[in-house]
Amino acid sequence: MDLRALLREIYDFPKEGIVFLDITPLLGDGKAFHHAVDMMAARFADANPTKIVAAEARGFIFGAALAYKMRIGFVPVRKPGKLPYKTQSVTYDLEYGTDTLCMHEDAVLRGEKVLVVDDLLATGGTLKGVLKLVETFGAEIAGVGVLVELDFLNGKDSLNGYSVQSVVHVG
Ligand code: PRP
Ligand code: ADE
Repeated sequence: MDLRALLREIYDFPKEGIVFLDITPLLGDGKAFHHAVDMMAARFADANPTKIVAAEARGFIFGAALAYKMRIGFVPVRKPGKLPYKTQSVTYDLEYGTDTLCMHEDAVLRGEKVLVVDDLLATGGTLKGVLKLVETFGAEIAGVGVLVELDFLNGKDSLNGYSVQSVVHVG
C-alpha cells in the first residue's frame, strides 16, 4: 500500500517557508490507517516494551493505537497545565518555534522498557525532549518509532544513539 500517496504537502503552513506534511488524508482512510499502525507495530515485534510514551496531539493518534495493538500501557506527554498530578517538564525547539512538554512523574518506572512514538520526525526536537523526560525517570528506551520521517531535515542526527524506525521517508 502506498502510504506516501496519502500524505499531503501544504506549503507555508504554519509559517512561510515550511512544507507541512499533512497526515489527515491517511488517517481518514481506514485501510491505510490500519496498515500504518500494523507497519509501526511490526518494527517493534521483538522489542518487548511495557509502555508507549507519546506527545500530544498527533503523537497520541499513533501512540494510543500501537499501545492497544501491543496490549501495553500508554503514557500521555502533554502541554503545560493539562496533566493533573505532579509533573516533570522539558522545553525544546521545533521546526516552527519552541514548546514545553510535561509528563506525570509516576508514569514510567526505573528500568521499565519504553517505546517512544510520534506521527512525524522533522527536526527531532520533540522526540529529543520526550526521550529526555523518559530518561529522567530512569526508564530504558526500547525503541523510537514514527510513521513519517522528513529526511531533508536530518532530524535523526539530533537523535544519535537512538535507533529510530520510520515507516515512510519523505526526502
Ligand atoms: C509535530 C509532530 C511532531 C513534531 C515533529 O507536533 O506531531 O510531534 O511536530 O517536529 P520536530 O521533529 O521538529 O520536533 P506539533 O508540535 O506541531 O504539535 P501537534 O502534534 O499538536 O500538531
Ligand atoms: N511537525 C514539524 N514539522 C512538520 C512538518 N514540516 N510537517 C508536519 N508536521 C511537522
